[in-house]
Amino acid sequence: MEMFKYSKRVPKDGSDAVGEILKAAADPKIISFAGGLPAPELFPVAEMKKATDDVYDENGKEALQYGSAKGVLKLRKTIAKRMLDREGIKTDPDHIMVSTGSEQVIDLVGKAFIDSGDTVFVEQPTYLCAIDVFKSYGAKFVSVPMDDDGMRTDALEEALKEHPEVKLLYTVPNFQNPTGRTMPADRREALAKLAEKYDFMVLEDNPYGDIRFAGEHVPSVKSFDKSGHVIYMSTFSKILAPGLRLGWAIADLDVINKLTVLKQSADLHSDNLAQYIVAKFFEENDIEKHIEKISQLYGSRKKLMTDNIKKYFPKNVKFSDPEGGMFLWVQVPGVKDTTKLFNMCIKHNVAFVPGVPFFAGAEIPGSFRLNYSNMKEDQIEVGIKRLASAIKEVLSEQTVAVNK
Ligand SMILES: Cc1ncc(COP(=O)(O)O)c(C=O)c1O
Repeated sequence: MEMFKYSKRVPKDGSDAVGEILKAAADPKIISFAGGLPAPELFPVAEMKKATDDVYDENGKEALQYGSAKGVLKLRKTIAKRMLDREGIKTDPDHIMVSTGSEQVIDLVGKAFIDSGDTVFVEQPTYLCAIDVFKSYGAKFVSVPMDDDGMRTDALEEALKEHPEVKLLYTVPNFQNPTGRTMPADRREALAKLAEKYDFMVLEDNPYGDIRFAGEHVPSVKSFDKSGHVIYMSTFSKILAPGLRLGWAIADLDVINKLTVLKQSADLHSDNLAQYIVAKFFEENDIEKHIEKISQLYGSRKKLMTDNIKKYFPKNVKFSDPEGGMFLWVQVPGVKDTTKLFNMCIKHNVAFVPGVPFFAGAEIPGSFRLNYSNMKEDQIEVGIKRLASAIKEVLSEQTVAVNK
């Protein structure tokens, strides 16, 4: 029995599984691969300080005033140009809405498209906060299987025949959180075509696409969209700094205007000052050079992690080998209870995020996410060695239990 008369939207048990995991991992003895933070040593603090000073000098009064719900025009122009150059998305400032973190786009899209009982397709596994958002709007989930190349569009078509009522599909096609997998261009094109054919919206979430340290850039799903069924979203969190809380959505004019109305009810507009500062930062600095620095650092940390996984983990352990982003995904065959493995890891002073919260449906046991972007080089080898010992201990305990 709840103490107060909450809406159905509020999770019943009030528990925060991920919060508990991060709390356990926060012990300074523990090497934690659990978080999902960018490397703070690359935040361009001096350049942001200069951009801030310049904004106060040149546009102080406008930047401190209320602003437009769609966002500061100069920033939307900056976004439109970069989206064309980088993603092949032909757009203009009218079709762009600046959001309070890209997380807000997930929420507003949920609010705009999901009524209680509506069907939402997600990848299996997917970004856990998206599951929480869609759940809060009463979504029923269908999980679309993945392989090393992301969401399987053949499996998607099967699922569509079974669930033609689907209204929304959520995908992270580049260096997915949690798996690090990337969907190739042919699947992206197929997805855009299926969205038109079966008349459902695609929410293409691309926070990590810029952080590529190997392989070739793949065009966005949005660049294949001819019917307006794709909503594209991204963020300044990974290429600049997450504390700014600025992201954006690009969509068909009707959709973006509806999202903007909902945004206005949520928070009137995103931080005006932060928007002016980011637009100024882009004017004064070479963002591509900055992104290259981030990509190089994450690439070398990823390599260190996979080299050590190959060296210390049991040989049958599967792991993704991402070409960008911040995460890789491990699956240990034979592990029946990932929570048991997590607890064993805590005993060995190392942590990860267990796979369970990333699944909207049934979990694939023995799977977990590792973060490498926020991990110092000297900690990676030690942490992976500890993880290997914990895995071996859990597997041998299980064998003993079976043989009893
Ligand atoms: C897949 C994905 N989408 C969205 C977000 C939200 O990011 P932000 O609100 O900082 O833009 C994150 C954050 O880690 C993420 O991993």
